[in-house]
Amino acid sequence: MLTKTLLQRAAAVPSRSATVSHQTLRSASAWSQVPQGPPDAILGITEAFKKDSHPKKINLGVGAYRDDKGKPYVLPSVHQAEQAVVQKNLDKEYAGITGVPEFVKGAALLAYGPNSAPLKEGRIAITQSISGTGALRIGGAFLQRHYPHAKTIYIPTPSWANHKAVFLDSGLEVKQYRYYNKDTIGLDFDGMIADIKAMPKNSILLLHACAHNPTGIDPTEEQWKGISDAVKEGNHYPFFDMAYQGFASGDTDRDAFSLRHFIEQGHQPCLAQSFAKNMGLYGERVGAFSIVAESAEEKARVDSQIKILVRPLYSNPPVHGARIASQILNDSSLNQQWLGEVKGMADRIIKMRALLKENLEKLGSQRKWDHITDQIGMFAYTGLTAEQMTKLAEEHSVYATKDGRISVAGITSENVGRLAESIFKITG
Ligand SMILES: Cc1ncc(COP(=O)(O)O)c(C=O)c1O
Repeated sequence: MLTKTLLQRAAAVPSRSATVSHQTLRSASAWSQVPQGPPDAILGITEAFKKDSHPKKINLGVGAYRDDKGKPYVLPSVHQAEQAVVQKNLDKEYAGITGVPEFVKGAALLAYGPNSAPLKEGRIAITQSISGTGALRIGGAFLQRHYPHAKTIYIPTPSWANHKAVFLDSGLEVKQYRYYNKDTIGLDFDGMIADIKAMPKNSILLLHACAHNPTGIDPTEEQWKGISDAVKEGNHYPFFDMAYQGFASGDTDRDAFSLRHFIEQGHQPCLAQSFAKNMGLYGERVGAFSIVAESAEEKARVDSQIKILVRPLYSNPPVHGARIASQILNDSSLNQQWLGEVKGMADRIIKMRALLKENLEKLGSQRKWDHITDQIGMFAYTGLTAEQMTKLAEEHSVYATKDGRISVAGITSENVGRLAESIFKITG
């Protein structure tokens, strides 16, 4: 109403005054001082890719799985589960604050495993979350409010681009530990251990449970044991981010090794789970956040505080995606089918890694490309420089992020040859 009155008044006066009134109106905007944010790197790739008219252009910037034809993939088990959910004709009432109970039960079993002591002893507090990002955010907020020591979280260098923002916005201080060795295009294990040992006692550490994003470089099981020892020595608190369980090796138990080993060693970590990649439920936003407590009594107190945190954030989570995931996690035949499909996705990615390396070698590349097959999960760190990545886009219509990361999910049997040629022309 007020705006309309001012505009009407402005229209009634001579033109010069009208301009003044208009300016007065504009400068009164609450957002006149809001700065323009930097352009989104992935959006930039998508736009440049769209504009490119090359008939065989390749987009390796996407963070979602694609089939061998380069198309988005709805898992048949997800499709079936969704049909089963629809046929149940369920109502659309609110879920409780912590979500769909059968879903979180299944999610905990998947992550911690049937032999998990804390699971059997009823001392894992768990809540449904808005996918993995939401789980990380609840975790950040919980630590910020209740962690009794320094509210600083150490994340690897590099880490998923959103980690820093999520934890800063949760009110934590963010520092980093060494992870990637650019000379070997591998894990800087010694640097990582040295940094963990140098952290003040009781520090919080974020660990990628498997399929480290963006590098695709995971510690070996032996190295995880060393990391667990170093974390224990410092009395540090481990926060696992498991966005790719099953998607890395094709085996959900194998991919949970780090988390389960830490628990066997007496750590009481917290965990962010995502079902975006392993079930292809990206847009459904299905995830879970859990905390291993010391006792069932402690778990109950932690549970109550998780609810207090979640309620003012979004009241309660959406039900549809969680019902789909729950169907898959709790119906044994559908579960078996899903495990096979997860393996299918992981195997396709592993095969594309091998084909890319093989093609580069066949072309006579003098470089070593073992890291392409040593790495695991959706992303590969090629070791290409920012200039080389720019050349790849400008001269060969191959698009990916400037840090040299390529999404292996974007490679297909058809484009792998041209991709290898393009990389070979640039790197030799
Ligand atoms: C390491 C890591 N953590 C968390 C996420 C969260 O994803 P989402 O919120 O889609 O589950 C991602 C997604 O790419 C990721 O790579």
